[in-house]
Amino acid sequence: MLVNHIVEKKFAKQIVIVRADFNVPMKNGRVLDDSRILQAKPTIDKLLDDGAVVLLLSHFGRPSSVNDQQYSLRHILPAVNNALGHRVKLLPTIAEAKDMLSNAKPGSLYLLENIRYFPGEKDNDPELFNQLAEIADVYVNDAFSVCHRRHASVAGLAEKLKSYAGLALINDIDNLTRLFNQAQHPLTAIVGGAKVSTKIEVLDGLLHKADTIFVGGGMANTFLKAQGYPIGNSLIEPAYIKLAEKIIKQSQAAGCELIFPSDVIVTKDIAAGVGEQVTVNQVTTDDIIVDVGEFTLQEMSVILGNSKSVIWNGPLGVYETPPFNAGTQCLARMIAELTKSGQLQSLVGGGDSIAALQDCDLLDDISYACTAGGAFLEWLAGRDLPGLIALENYR
Ligand code: 3PG
Repeated sequence: MLVNHIVEKKFAKQIVIVRADFNVPMKNGRVLDDSRILQAKPTIDKLLDDGAVVLLLSHFGRPSSVNDQQYSLRHILPAVNNALGHRVKLLPTIAEAKDMLSNAKPGSLYLLENIRYFPGEKDNDPELFNQLAEIADVYVNDAFSVCHRRHASVAGLAEKLKSYAGLALINDIDNLTRLFNQAQHPLTAIVGGAKVSTKIEVLDGLLHKADTIFVGGGMANTFLKAQGYPIGNSLIEPAYIKLAEKIIKQSQAAGCELIFPSDVIVTKDIAAGVGEQVTVNQVTTDDIIVDVGEFTLQEMSVILGNSKSVIWNGPLGVYETPPFNAGTQCLARMIAELTKSGQLQSLVGGGDSIAALQDCDLLDDISYACTAGGAFLEWLAGRDLPGLIALENYR
């Protein structure tokens, strides 16, 4: 629960910094999904209606320096203007922001250039957050998706200024808490995606929460290997095989059923987009596992049919290369149908899972879809997120 709630306050004549997350997917100069921008609109509108002057902060991609101009926020400015329904002025430096903000009329809205262009952002450097704190009265965090980063615009600045949680952040936390901490059992977790290394702690944390965990996607390969199955040329993280063995043992002790694909789609050449279905013991040395097979999907349908709640993060195959997105889309349809019919409560997080639901036009059928990826996983794993801890009165 977040105590400092912006709804209960008025911000007339105050200069408010809002940390948003406009890190949106882009292709050929076009923003593919503006959900993250739209999410920040209620908070921004409330502050502007109150008569505040608002300076938005966001990162975009992972630029190494200001020279990495492909990550300039000017590329997404038209999408920001369109989604927010305001003309937002982009300010390249903190000095310029200081100048503009001090002379701005109530209800003015500005956006600082990609915060990751500023030295010290990623190190939570006091020099940077002190400079930012000097030009504003209040800080609002409205981006759950960056709360796992101990960055200056997420952690340091929140501690320095009077800080509040924005409406989108509160909405995410409330829904995550309701659907995960108070989930009805049997609770099934489905964790996919490419790498075990980024999700192993989540699995560890979920063993004590979920009744069943299905591990899919590239990360399943490391677990299959740990159990002695051949995985051919598939993606694997050898350094994590021992940990995978340990997690399998721990799941037994925790009474959590940990399951993996029993059949898979394999190919010799991902780009060719042609696959063959085999059981997991039939994978040959030059095969690459690219999706789950039909039998696995049937098993998942039975497990989901017996579940009351599901958490899903990560694709089951190479989602960006059709037809290897078929397993993930089939899973999206199963979860959406069971949720729509009232049999299941569903909590979905992460870009690829949301994209699968969107591609099937099923996003609205999910109980709650969270645009956060890394933060969603760390929260599920029970970790303290620096961006939340830094907020005043957070508990
Ligand atoms: C995300 O896309 O998950 C957030 O915007 C955080 O981005 P990051 O992983 O580059 O910190």
